[in-house]
Amino acid sequence: MIQLDIKRTLDFIPEAELLNMEHEIQEHYKKIFSKTGEGKDFLGWTSLPSEMQNSDLVKDINNTAKEIREKAEVFVVIGIGGSYLGARAVIEALQSSFPDAQHGKPIQVVYAGHHMSEDYMAELLDYLDSKEYALTVISKSGTTTEPAIAFRLLRQHLENKYGKPEARKRIIAITDKKKGALKTLAGNEGYKSYVVPDDVGGRYSVLTPVGLLPIAVAGFSIDELLKGAASMQAFTGKGHRIMDDPAALYAATRNALYNIGKPVEIMVNYQPRLHYFTEWWKQLFGESEGKQQRGILPAGVSFTTDLHSMGQYIQQGLRIIFETVVSIEKPARSLTIPEDKENLDGLNYIAGKRLSEVNKQAELGTILAHTEGGVPNMKVSVPELNAYYLGELIYFYEMACALSGYILEVNPFNQPGVEAYKNNMFALLKKPGFEEETKAIRKKL
Ligand code: PA5
Repeated sequence: MIQLDIKRTLDFIPEAELLNMEHEIQEHYKKIFSKTGEGKDFLGWTSLPSEMQNSDLVKDINNTAKEIREKAEVFVVIGIGGSYLGARAVIEALQSSFPDAQHGKPIQVVYAGHHMSEDYMAELLDYLDSKEYALTVISKSGTTTEPAIAFRLLRQHLENKYGKPEARKRIIAITDKKKGALKTLAGNEGYKSYVVPDDVGGRYSVLTPVGLLPIAVAGFSIDELLKGAASMQAFTGKGHRIMDDPAALYAATRNALYNIGKPVEIMVNYQPRLHYFTEWWKQLFGESEGKQQRGILPAGVSFTTDLHSMGQYIQQGLRIIFETVVSIEKPARSLTIPEDKENLDGLNYIAGKRLSEVNKQAELGTILAHTEGGVPNMKVSVPELNAYYLGELIYFYEMACALSGYILEVNPFNQPGVEAYKNNMFALLKKPGFEEETKAIRKKL
């Protein structure tokens, strides 16, 4: 199982303070499992792993993924925020950094609808001209502007390329059971569709078809992912002492650090493949906690790269930061640093060592330097970077986020602040129904 080590926070916060939070955490667990706390209608994710494991739905997703892999060399995932980050986090963590080098028939997963860059979309359409492709359009509300625009463009491209009947077979819609423009369109066109459950919010939806279909299409085992998540589900909130329950301990420790003036948490990785996992985590915590003018700001760095950019600030800038390192214990590959007769680069002192050993010493050296510099450190140890442990990590962070939000006394399952930019954008674009807002915003220009 993944492990959480908080010993390098204990120079900053007394262990007794964490132990004192045990009762409060148990109360929060009760609210979560009995679905009686804030945001109680969005707690479906708590039982997803056990419900989804070996289900007909997962079998169906695996079959669909197989069909797509047989006919496409590129799979376009259209979605934004929680409707794309979970899939991307898992796919990029598991795939080779150079995906063409993977064994078996590779399928390239590309993303759209997560921004509105005209250049990106034009380049994507050019790229797809010569590719066999299929796509999924994912939107719980079915009305989000960014994916809707991308889908309009891609649908037209797909229909022009293959004709309407074949294009229909290459589109999979993942959306609400009943409502939204995407639901209507999917029904009218007869697209293969999956449902985003009502009681699962976007950023908690990676273990629904939202994440599972793209991950399966990319060729990774969603059964293993769910198995890992289910093992964490079976363990989490089952009456363990706080020190033995990673989700509880993480939630308590980060809040204790917040309360001593550390409002910024940096997730650190030493594996470039984890970049999008950090992005997923940033959304999960940022959107869940950042409200009512409180919340821990989630940031991310990839080391050792960012030690050469952000490292200076972390070591000596404002002392408002704590760090959580996601540390992968065992690399999948083996590479030894070679001996060099001339030794002009002076590296013979590490010749014969695995590159991962040097990376690990960089990790340890950095943790020591940062804690001595006033940056408390937590470490999440992951035995290996595989689907099973990613499943564990996902459930661990989701539960920790729910607990942490409750400790902060915010509703971790809504996102009212996201509407502000949309309303202004609609007013500026003169969307029908926004006439008053358009008048008001024009006065500010
Ligand atoms: O977590 C969330 O709720 C958001 O990030 C949504 O997932 C995101 O805004 C996309 O929404 P939708 O799936 O409705 O298009």
